[in-house]
Amino acid sequence: MTLKDKKIIVGITGSIAAYKSALLVRALVKEGAEVQVIMTQAAKDFISPLTLSTLSGKKVLSEIFEEDEWANHVMLGRWADIMVIAPLSCNTLAKMAGGLCDNLLLSVYLSAVCPVVVAPAMDEDMWKHPGTKKNLEKLLSWGNLVIPVGYGELASGLTGEGRMAEPESIVEFIAGSLSKSGPLKGKKALVTAGPTYEHLDPVRFIGNHSSGKMGVAVARELANRGTEVHLVLGPVSQHFDLNGLQVKRVQSAEEMFIACKEVFAGMDITVMAAAVADYAPAEYSQNKIKKNDDEMVVNLSKTPDILKSLGQMKTPAQVLVGFALETDNEEANAMKKLEAKNADMIVLNSLKDEKAGFGKDTNKVTVFDRKGGKKAFDTKSKEAVAKDIIDCIIGYTNA
Ligand code: C5P
Repeated sequence: MTLKDKKIIVGITGSIAAYKSALLVRALVKEGAEVQVIMTQAAKDFISPLTLSTLSGKKVLSEIFEEDEWANHVMLGRWADIMVIAPLSCNTLAKMAGGLCDNLLLSVYLSAVCPVVVAPAMDEDMWKHPGTKKNLEKLLSWGNLVIPVGYGELASGLTGEGRMAEPESIVEFIAGSLSKSGPLKGKKALVTAGPTYEHLDPVRFIGNHSSGKMGVAVARELANRGTEVHLVLGPVSQHFDLNGLQVKRVQSAEEMFIACKEVFAGMDITVMAAAVADYAPAEYSQNKIKKNDDEMVVNLSKTPDILKSLGQMKTPAQVLVGFALETDNEEANAMKKLEAKNADMIVLNSLKDEKAGFGKDTNKVTVFDRKGGKKAFDTKSKEAVAKDIIDCIIGYTNA
């Protein structure tokens, strides 16, 4: 965590999720940050300023003018290393998107020269309203960062999307945003994720169970660290938050290969986490194949080995990372792959581990690199594994 001595403005607006802001402020202070809370009037109906001033150790600010004192919003905006507005209500979001500044929080937002992170909280119908989407898009286009809302119980009693992210996730997001000044800032990365579908006819395909979770986690973590990410994503069924990523959706290995070749030359880092089909039907039938005989033979031909082809194009300055899913002789096979594909790094995940692999939320990996490095990690969430992989890439490029 990189929050020690960081100056953080926590803006709180009028939403029931404001009660969670106390936990957020407490967690930030515990990490060593200096926290200045700014509340809107409506926020005070949900949580007491006294709670927040006690937790932050600073007077809570709310008004532009208090008696004969003027809160210097410009200097507050310059003081902070980061400003986080959590919860962000629909009303304050609309005002931010419209450039209004009828309270201190909005004035500081408009004056802030630091990164601004928002954690929206609202009922699902408001969240899904095109006006809300437009307002959020505006904020994103100005470089503000949006922490995705969660799914679950809402203040209305309904269940759906719109819950504010949990304080721990917000703390992690803030730490990630601040570390964007790290070694990956301004770099470009290509990531592949998901399966490929190789079509036999208009209704059938050969595919696999890859969920895309691992590759998307890598892509998101790279983006969190300031990298421009191009994600080439196969046909996945899960809905992912792909905000801030440049996404190209593909179906087949051939399409994935074309999409990768288009951008590869300009990339600093390439991580191929997709589970690409090795074989595709040799012929595609324009019409649905009829059921006739008891048996049917399908001829398959090899798909392009994308990793290997990119390995042949790679310059010494580029880092190329492949994945290996092995069932036996894992280490020997991973090392062979490193060589055969001219990759810099191979992330081995074993199908023997019941918490690792396709569709799971966790993974257990060992990372091998071309300079002889080997790092074995414990079973972790795919998000945490993504962080480990990226730390290995940074370590490899610095070694
Ligand atoms: O050879 P194997 O399929 O085991 O290698 C796995 C690695 O190669 C993964 O990184 C995967 O994304 C990549 N791959 C590829 N093109 C293929 C098959 C695998 O890029 N046709």
